[in-house]
Amino acid sequence: MELLAECIRTGFISSDGPFVREFEARMAAYLGTAHGVAVCNGTAALETALFAAGIGEGDEVIMPAFTIISCAVAAIRLGAVPVLVDAEPETWNMDVSRIEAKLTPRTRAIMAVHIYGHPTDMDPLLELARRHRLKVIEDAAEVHGAEYKGRKCGNLGDVAAFSFYANKIVTTGEGGMVVTKDPGMAERARSYRNLCFRPDRRFLHTELGYNFRMTNLQAALGVAQMDRIDEFVEIKRRLGARYVRGLSTLDGIKCQVEKPWARMVYWMYCVELDPRLGLTAAALMDRLAKKGIGCRPFFLGLHEQPVLRERGWFAGEEYPVTERIARQGLYLPSGLTLTESQVDEVLAAVAAALRAGPGNG
Ligand SMILES: Cc1ncc(COP(=O)(O)O)c(C=O)c1O
Repeated sequence: MELLAECIRTGFISSDGPFVREFEARMAAYLGTAHGVAVCNGTAALETALFAAGIGEGDEVIMPAFTIISCAVAAIRLGAVPVLVDAEPETWNMDVSRIEAKLTPRTRAIMAVHIYGHPTDMDPLLELARRHRLKVIEDAAEVHGAEYKGRKCGNLGDVAAFSFYANKIVTTGEGGMVVTKDPGMAERARSYRNLCFRPDRRFLHTELGYNFRMTNLQAALGVAQMDRIDEFVEIKRRLGARYVRGLSTLDGIKCQVEKPWARMVYWMYCVELDPRLGLTAAALMDRLAKKGIGCRPFFLGLHEQPVLRERGWFAGEEYPVTERIARQGLYLPSGLTLTESQVDEVLAAVAAALRAGPGNG
């Protein structure tokens, strides 16, 4: 509140304000990287990150089939081509062992999307990228504070994108950030978010950018949240462990597996239902909704998105793990204000819903 009042008192309410720079610096320092470029949302951050990495017309970008549409949109808007890789069944992240088969002479980048709070297995991905001279973009929208082998997600590839939407671990209401150690990429990102104004001649433009700027008001929220990020991650991990313990006693339910090399942050408390239960995620959500428990479905694979298929993308492609988890996966109540007794209530409701047996609702 105090920081917001300061914005209003000093008149710095647009994007030209000290909290924008402070939020960028705080985020970069937290990740152990050099530059942050705040933007208006995570989708814009992804597009800006791809632009910063030099991705453009006709370039192929490898990305998971199991992700939000923002990833494909970011590539398509720059004239690039999304190329999909299936998920692996334990963490639901991109199956890194399947990337090499998707490389062509036009491949320029790999977008690693850390799914639902768990990192992608980055070492083999980075090694492959090095060998083929590919840029690595991390979509870190769901992993504020998560670690891969002791290093923070968002500081593992060439450039990363964060979202600060209201359901994220750090939020500014709407917001996003591009982070990178590379000063050239940071400069390109700053240019793209601000209509590609040239520093030498303000109203002369030689590239197309956008107004993707974040306001000082939003950044003030971000600065205040950065003081508490470790506390937020601890809450997520404590409640996540409670959910996992409770769910492990139920047959036919699987949680995201935390790999020994990962410190996940349980952005969402996710479950996958064994198809042998005869119960889809939609049916379980229906049963829980009747008890006043709101859940959300998993992503639908990019190759199954009507808007992309109608445009001729991914015709005839199949990604079986993605297809299964899109139908059998859901996330349970996951807000930061959830109490332990509310988690126990949800666990009891899930157990009762399973006891009711197979069915469509
Ligand atoms: C993995 C991932 N990438 C990108 C985004 C897009 O972020 P935003 O909603 O801020 O545009 C999201 C949003 O939830 C996301 O989960």
